[in-house]
Amino acid sequence: MKPVKVGLLGLGTVGGGTVNVLKRNAEEISRRAGRGIEITHAAARDLSRPRICDTAGIKLTTHPMDVVNDPEVEIIVELIGGDGLAKELVEKAIANGKHVVTANKALIAKHGNEIFQAAQAKGVMVAFEAAVAGGIPIIKAIREGLAGNEIQWLAGIINGTGNFILTEMKDKGRDFVDVLKEAQALGYAEADPTFDVEGIDAAHKLTILASIAFGIPLQFDAAYTEGITKITRDDVNYAEALGYRIKHLGISRRTDKGIELRVHPTLIPERRLIANVDGVMNAVLVMGDAVGPTLYYGAGAGAEPTASAVVADLVDVVRALTSDPENRVPHLAFQADALSDLPILKMDDIETAYYLRMQAADEPGVMAKVTTILGGQGISIEALIQKEPVDKSTDVSVIMLTHRVQEARMNQAIASIEALPSIHGAVTRIRMEALDAN
Ligand code: HSE
Repeated sequence: MKPVKVGLLGLGTVGGGTVNVLKRNAEEISRRAGRGIEITHAAARDLSRPRICDTAGIKLTTHPMDVVNDPEVEIIVELIGGDGLAKELVEKAIANGKHVVTANKALIAKHGNEIFQAAQAKGVMVAFEAAVAGGIPIIKAIREGLAGNEIQWLAGIINGTGNFILTEMKDKGRDFVDVLKEAQALGYAEADPTFDVEGIDAAHKLTILASIAFGIPLQFDAAYTEGITKITRDDVNYAEALGYRIKHLGISRRTDKGIELRVHPTLIPERRLIANVDGVMNAVLVMGDAVGPTLYYGAGAGAEPTASAVVADLVDVVRALTSDPENRVPHLAFQADALSDLPILKMDDIETAYYLRMQAADEPGVMAKVTTILGGQGISIEALIQKEPVDKSTDVSVIMLTHRVQEARMNQAIASIEALPSIHGAVTRIRMEALDAN
């Protein structure tokens, strides 16, 4: 059988990695797919730029629409990113009856519902394994491997750049900006690195994971997103002293009232495996009612790890080329007409435990006032540290861990604590999760 012809949009880090992996493993890939897979046409913004791959035998252009309109190409691999030009190209590819493989989390998280609808109408596949957690086959694991379960919750370290920064801050006391620059140079960071450090990239990925875990439409706009820019070395150290690590997590949980969808720094017990996922590595912990907890770990970014997911999707698409579109794995794991309308919960309605840090005047009665406010909101304290002031003129740092409480109550308590004259500045609040079987 003739090889399948593939058009590639984007010849940067992941595009170059994809060309290299397809070439190096051509024989193994064809034994798996049943046919060869060949990139025949590729678009890049600047053809004079040095590449990590050999493009011999590939027709090159600076016009991506030419690739999308190439009648010989059956599958388009979109590695441009963003939801501007990439969206137009993917829509046109679908309209042209071509299958699409994409690593574009922003595109899927924000426009996936319409894209999948258009793809379904045209009988084409849109595969997006590389959009979440780089080389970890987490989409396939949740969508297919865990299909017998009612998924209860998932929590993931799904931004390599953020995890790299937090790890370097903890282990080496390095400066935030300096570590970010290194992540950019290594090709891990987004084109706009605020997407990494403000949690937007993680929220894109979490939105996708929640949809395939719970069978709900993609709802990126409803995700709560908080980054790592306010995490201080002090917080990292206090957390460690209390037996916790601070990780930037995407968390999604099914509750009676709806689905939690939230990205924020989180204290997790240091004995959890996921607490020890360091550097640029990603990990996703998924709790299914039948299987219990399962943990998926691997490289979440970089040329070949992401290419590994792109090529796996290509193999899947090639294997299913001749299958009846009605009998393919649904894009969002659940049949399109069987998606649930469970609402995404507002942050006020979620329930979690908290780490609080505040600066208090070193005078009698302050602690009593703080604990009275917390008690008034039904908030129970689990642990407490008070650091000695450096001298009589300085504040004391008070660190507390609380039991679980509704976020709205914690917000009220924090507002009241901050209004106390003897509490100086804002109260730092970091959410805390046990990530145990419940
Ligand atoms: N900027 C992303 C990260 C790349 O650091 O994880 C992979 O999506």
